[in-house]
Amino acid sequence: MKNRGTLINLNGKIIPLEEAKVSVFDRSFLYGDSLYEVVRTYQGKPFRLKEHLARMEKSAVLCQMQFSQPTSEYEREMLRSIEAYRAQPGKSNEDVYVRIVVSRGSGKIGFGLGNLETPTLYVIIVEPISMFPNKPFNEGAKLQISKRIRNHPMALDPAMKSGNYLNSLLAYLTAAEQGYDDALMLDQQGFMTEGTTYNLFYVNRGIVATSPLDVGILDGVTRRAIINLCVENGIPCREVRFPKEYLYQADEVFVSSSLKEVLPVLNLDGKKINGGKAGPIALKLKKAFDELVKRELHLD
Ligand SMILES: Cc1ncc(COP(=O)(O)O)c(C=O)c1O
Repeated sequence: MKNRGTLINLNGKIIPLEEAKVSVFDRSFLYGDSLYEVVRTYQGKPFRLKEHLARMEKSAVLCQMQFSQPTSEYEREMLRSIEAYRAQPGKSNEDVYVRIVVSRGSGKIGFGLGNLETPTLYVIIVEPISMFPNKPFNEGAKLQISKRIRNHPMALDPAMKSGNYLNSLLAYLTAAEQGYDDALMLDQQGFMTEGTTYNLFYVNRGIVATSPLDVGILDGVTRRAIINLCVENGIPCREVRFPKEYLYQADEVFVSSSLKEVLPVLNLDGKKINGGKAGPIALKLKKAFDELVKRELHLD
């Protein structure tokens, strides 16, 4: 594969991309039997890395995975990998995307844990953040409400950030094929859940609302930060179930994730939201989010 400036850390060793190989018997490859987390850096510092790793520990409980390494090792190696990336010539000012994938390991084919012949394996991928183009805040996103529903919590629980994203990926592919940037998903009962890789908010008459965790969504680190920013800024925020019609009629719709931060949705199923312009609450929360990152990471 062409190296676009990627740095790889495999089980604690930073290695050239050409040497970064995982067995064909790895369970992440065979079954999607892995977990992952993504953070981005700001001036070289990752935002809320500990929260991401705490979520990965929760995901591990949900899929009965026992890490062979302590999460403190994951944290240390992620930080070391960011430093190593930035130590490369011309990279010292680059912000990066950092993904950690932990696979249950490899061994004989078959679900039983007795087939495992290795400890859990981890890979850290560090790439230039510019490789993940996000829509600029003002341009916002054009989303489709997918016909494909979000996984039921009693099936593949969305609270678990596993390596099995096929359901979301298929929702994305259909949306992309039809000219949308990405997709939002409903649950089986017709309540909105979240996007394929981000959480969902809407604003009506100054009140912010977001789907509750128990509708079956990922407990987003950014979502939590936004809920707290609403409280700090005196913006009422509720966690409530709502049907898709509420979005069409909303004053504002926006989504959140570690990469997207706060991103307005300006077109939904071909209908303009807020006349196709970012609304005042999304703007205020984006500004508050930027300030929070600056404050928390002690940026210039
Ligand atoms: C399904 C899903 N929802 C929400 C999010 C946003 O989570 P965070 O804010 O922790 O990046 C993600 C991010 O990966 C995701 O995959």
